Amino acid sequence: MKKLAILASGNGTNAQQISEYFAGSGNIIVDVIIYNKKDAYVATRAANLGIESRYFGRRDFLETDKVLDFLRARKVDYLILAGFLLLVPENILKAFPNRVINIHPALLPKYGGKGMYGHHVHEAVVANHERETGITIHIVDGRYDCGTTMFQARCKVMPSDTADDVAAKIHLLEKEFFPPVIESIVMGKPMPVQKNIS
Ligand code: GAR
Repeated sequence: MKKLAILASGNGTNAQQISEYFAGSGNIIVDVIIYNKKDAYVATRAANLGIESRYFGRRDFLETDKVLDFLRARKVDYLILAGFLLLVPENILKAFPNRVINIHPALLPKYGGKGMYGHHVHEAVVANHERETGITIHIVDGRYDCGTTMFQARCKVMPSDTADDVAAKIHLLEKEFFPPVIESIVMGKPMPVQKNIS
């Protein structure tokens, strides 16, 4: 059984979808949800799902081995960043080479980097009159939104779309593709077939 630790900073819709997707799996289990903002709603979602959650502050991540020790003690295999807004520190990346997976709500390398997260991304996409956007699932390499791309899926952006409209389309793509892409990476299976949504 491969164990996942999900790392999240906020609402946690992706964390929930991933947890529900793997709930009946005989191969992959969400072992713990880690969050770095005390009031993150993802902690409530974890409780509702019956999944253990644990808060670690910025200092715990950046100035100590507390998080790494915790992950090792639990024998976690992969880290899944699902709306996690802190840069993953070197000690953790070294311990999990090619085993930290992030989702970004745009077609990287466009609209990536520090400060480009969540709604900021969709606002920039609309402001620049993009005709399409999408999601990127990639291996984390120590820089914001960089590392080998494993999967992208696209959706159209209409001239009348607001940032909220784009966010809704992105959430649909995330819901459909993030869990099976994680499964493909962890189990070494083919990626899901991409389809465009309008
Ligand atoms: C998701 O859209 C995810 O792609 C994005 O944050 C949102 C979290 O939503 N991640 C980034 O922007 C990372 N740079 P959620 O908390 O409801 O899953």
